Amino acid sequence: MASPLMSLGQDDNRYQKSFQLFLERSSEHQCMQDFIHRQLPEILASIGDGKSHLNVIGVGSGAGTIDLEMLSVLRLKHPAVTVENEVVEPSSQQLHNYRVSVAQKPELDYIKFTWNKMTASEFEEAWKVKKLTKRADFIHMIQMLYYVKDPGATISFFQSLLDKNGKLLIILVSGESGWGRLWRTYRHQLCNTEISQCVTTGDIKSFLDSTGVSYQSYELPSQMDITECFTEGDEKGELLLDFLTEVLDFSKTASPELRAGVLQLLRHPDCSVESDGKVIFNNNLGVIVIDPLC
Ligand SMILES: C[S@@+](CC[C@H](N)C(=O)[O-])C[C@H]1O[C@@H](n2cnc3c(N)ncnc32)[C@H](O)[C@@H]1O
Repeated sequence: MASPLMSLGQDDNRYQKSFQLFLERSSEHQCMQDFIHRQLPEILASIGDGKSHLNVIGVGSGAGTIDLEMLSVLRLKHPAVTVENEVVEPSSQQLHNYRVSVAQKPELDYIKFTWNKMTASEFEEAWKVKKLTKRADFIHMIQMLYYVKDPGATISFFQSLLDKNGKLLIILVSGESGWGRLWRTYRHQLCNTEISQCVTTGDIKSFLDSTGVSYQSYELPSQMDITECFTEGDEKGELLLDFLTEVLDFSKTASPELRAGVLQLLRHPDCSVESDGKVIFNNNLGVIVIDPLC
């Protein structure tokens, strides 16, 4: 049954505000940075097959904070190469922020940035229309597969672009996180049927296993302070609730039963731990690294 609730993604301004607050209240970027500095160097060392130029594609890059961190690790592992970095990002605000950040870093002059203000499927369509044959050495999609209609098809397309030794990196919430539990319980009420939205790395692994694709996976422990969600009328709590449910103005538009059920589940031990008066939600992430097609 189609949900009558509006998706948060329909209001980019509120989406970006709630995402920013989520970053402030969670260890999301910190745990990604730990991964980038501990595990990613070895992964990136294996790409490129000795080439002097590497092609990178970032899909759903946001303001580029994590992308630039990964590019710095790529530089350490391949100090002499030049890089073309295709950025695929539909939000003009985020793309602007990314461009401003790059403009402030002259040391990135070995990278040619190509800015694609578009969705992953628009990029795929444009690639096919232009019949491009260029191949990529490193493609990443970090916390973005929720926003495509068919994550499996999106993965298959981008995997088909990988060059020999290339890698496709996916980060999403882990199936074992509070998000996984929330979505398994309320998928039909909360999730938009037009896009995948409630997808976790557990779902992606099942898809990859069913298609025989080889991959490596990692779990990244992460937390999110959701205490404000339990103070009725709290502006920040409402923004966080929108982000958690992906519903625009969740507190005002959900039925009282749904709202009460979601709030109860969010502080349930399956999703959160309570300590020192704070409710700490399990925001664990999963990383999947996919090899090229044989
Ligand atoms: C949760 S944010 C993640 C941003 C960044 N990767 C990070 O981890 O900080 C999701 C990003 O995906 C972008 N996005 C939304 N729908 C998309 C689509 N269909 N294709 C590509 N990117 C999309 C959003 O604009 C947003 O910047």
